[in-house]
Amino acid sequence: MSFNNFALSISRKLPPEFSNKFSLNALKLIYKFNLTKILFSLNKNQNLPSNYFGLDFPNKIGVAGGLDKNANYFHVLGNLGFGFVEVGTITLKPQSGNPKPRIHRFNNEETIINSLGFNNVGSVKALENIERNKKNFSGILGVSIGKGKEISNKKAHEDYLHLLDYFKDVADYFAINISSPNTKDLRKLSEDEYFRKLIDEITNKREQISKGFSKHKPIVIKVSPDESLNNLEKIISYSLSNGIDGFILTNTSMDHEYNMLGGVSGRPLRQKSEESLKFVRSIVKDKAVIISSGGLMTKEDAIKRFTLKADLIQLYSGFVFKGNSLLQDCLDVSST
Ligand SMILES: Cc1cc2nc3c(=O)[nH]c(=O)nc-3n(C[C@H](O)[C@H](O)[C@H](O)COP(=O)(O)O)c2cc1C
Repeated sequence: MSFNNFALSISRKLPPEFSNKFSLNALKLIYKFNLTKILFSLNKNQNLPSNYFGLDFPNKIGVAGGLDKNANYFHVLGNLGFGFVEVGTITLKPQSGNPKPRIHRFNNEETIINSLGFNNVGSVKALENIERNKKNFSGILGVSIGKGKEISNKKAHEDYLHLLDYFKDVADYFAINISSPNTKDLRKLSEDEYFRKLIDEITNKREQISKGFSKHKPIVIKVSPDESLNNLEKIISYSLSNGIDGFILTNTSMDHEYNMLGGVSGRPLRQKSEESLKFVRSIVKDKAVIISSGGLMTKEDAIKRFTLKADLIQLYSGFVFKGNSLLQDCLDVSST
């Protein structure tokens, strides 16, 4: 049995939320003892660098938001082979999230339902973590930001602006999370009433920040798979006309048959995520970068996403169920 399968067989037996933490800590330990390459038989360099929104990505395979919420593991994930990691979602203040149990895993169906609700250590501690770990990371670091639970949608833009300012020195790009289903009313930020103001404010702030760096700071919007086509088109068009750099398609979906709170990810999300990618690419053409996320569980899925013209892809549930073997398969696909 390979080490990857051995590790997965242990992690499947543990309660899901604990299992995620346990697995990431085990990976960190392996990294500390310099055993990653030996245990995972990583003996070839599959990097094929490519440039998106002015950033040099070592390869096209990334970690989706939420796996490394507090920026404790991104250097370890980079060492395993991921070309980019999106840490967070981070809120200004620390939050404990929704009541437990809030992650349910269905191994046979390769499905996860989560209702975490932006549990994270908050911006101050997260920045410390990023600064400490970035020294050991040579990939691209995305910082996913979200509004605090107590903040009304009317004031939400203020949170995003503070967070942009706070992380501007360390983030290679920012992901604006307005699509998590687990913070009350967050997804309403994609409605005209709030969306236009949010985008206007964010892009103004980006110009200020970019001037200070004399370098453009890319911003991508993470979109829900449950948007109507009509609203999705509006979101994309307004973002493009304001120079938003890209889109992440998609977050988790509330459209599922499990009788429990939270958004679904993994295999059941595959089709929605592919449809969203097709639709958005037809509007965007080559005017923005598209990062595909959702239901990427196999090598064939990765091939299909690139055929549908995703620029980059992100793994979450597939990595939880398949571990490093899925990452290596995806790297194979993106390096040929
Ligand atoms: C347990 C869990 C926590 C997540 N937390 C976040 C988060 O904090 N921010 C975010 O943008 N997406 C979050 N997501 C969504 C993932 O980033 C990803 O977009 C989604 O799970 C679809 O991809 P997948 O089917 O490969 O898992 C989370 C997903 C899961 C399963």
